[in-house]
Amino acid sequence: MKFFIDTANLDQIEEAQALGVLDGVTTNPSLMAKEGITGKENILNHYRNICEIVAGDISAEVIGTSFEEMIKEGEELAALHPQIVVKIPMIKDGVKAIKYFSDKGIKTNCTLIFSCGQALLAAKAGATYVSPFIGRLDDVSTDGLLLIDEIRRVYDNYGFETQILAASVRHTMHVVNCAKIGADVMTGPLSAIEGLLRHPLTDNGLKKFLEDARSMQV
Ligand code: E4P
Repeated sequence: MKFFIDTANLDQIEEAQALGVLDGVTTNPSLMAKEGITGKENILNHYRNICEIVAGDISAEVIGTSFEEMIKEGEELAALHPQIVVKIPMIKDGVKAIKYFSDKGIKTNCTLIFSCGQALLAAKAGATYVSPFIGRLDDVSTDGLLLIDEIRRVYDNYGFETQILAASVRHTMHVVNCAKIGADVMTGPLSAIEGLLRHPLTDNGLKKFLEDARSMQV
């Protein structure tokens, strides 16, 4: 299972990278705005900076919603760096744009997936990744993990190569459950990744080992 970090914050990306388990980064317009990045050149530069920190796939989202706008923006983003994956929303023109990029060998991430039917359509269009937003489904009392499970079954039935990128991951149990179901990738905040290493028995056990080591006066 690949671990992506879902942020545009360079410090957090560097921290996750330093842990040695990071496979990529996802961003979206809200995450970019949160970092106070404004103006086209600054936005493009920010994506370049992220590509310098992490060796894997970096999702950069288009803002236009017409086929023509998405193609223009997506080509510009893809030309920035070979690691860039063009992130495209699940709308009618988005599906057409995914097919266009897929035919050209440009990687895509189909975002804002909330149903198995949407994931099927994105896979048919040749998306590299689909991003089901499990946290946002949980927010409206709908089981997000159930959607991951459904998409896994459908993709396995037909051997689709589109990777399931569990998105809107909020905590460590999302990560663990996505791994159990067989999501190919999860993207979440640094806290969800670092939370995996915490256990009080580990802390207590280490404390006792260190106390006993000191008593041996080696
Ligand atoms: C996915 O690529 C999105 O950037 C993200 O996971 C959305 O997460 P949120 O629901 O926590 O905003």
